[in-house]
Amino acid sequence: MPDGVGQVPADSLDDVAQEVRRCVACTLSQGRTQAVPGEGPVHARLMVVGEGPGQQEDEAGRPFVGRAGQLLTDMLRAIHLERPEVFIANVVKCRPPDNRTPTPAEAEACAPFLARQIALVNPEVILVLGRTAAEALMGPGVRITAVRGVWTTLGTRALMPTYHPAYLLRDPRKKKEAWEDLQRVAERLGIPV
Ligand code: URA
Repeated sequence: MPDGVGQVPADSLDDVAQEVRRCVACTLSQGRTQAVPGEGPVHARLMVVGEGPGQQEDEAGRPFVGRAGQLLTDMLRAIHLERPEVFIANVVKCRPPDNRTPTPAEAEACAPFLARQIALVNPEVILVLGRTAAEALMGPGVRITAVRGVWTTLGTRALMPTYHPAYLLRDPRKKKEAWEDLQRVAERLGIPV
């Protein structure tokens, strides 16, 4: 390798992940077992954004590996997508204590990581799971019941807000609406369901 003079290292998803693992920008870093940067292919057509790691994600260092994660896997399969085809990320990359909702300050401290992941993956569609993700990507005060199922944009990308799978586990009656939202995503991506 040349000595790098004149070379600017390109940002990559690995760079982001390494910075996430070293990050101490907010106090959530003090309680983590492992940071959870997110995972998936760099040119995924679909990106999923959740809230933040729970206990199992904190232990595994991977997003959506618990019960809500199993439901997310099933939701993606319902539109003929397997997890390795999708980039899966969260608003905050470290587990909030007792799985509480991240504070706006914590979400803000972590926001540059999500912004870089979105820019690098450049997905056609972002599936926005629940209120915390909707607020992070659409603005404070957004109510998921008001915005779910309605396309909106973030730059050139289409956003589809829907219910968080953890909420669907608590209230399975809402699965019908979530399925309608997923069908909208499939249609946008040209996937027959
Ligand atoms: N809930 C989330 O929002 N993200 C995860 O990674 C797991 C559960």
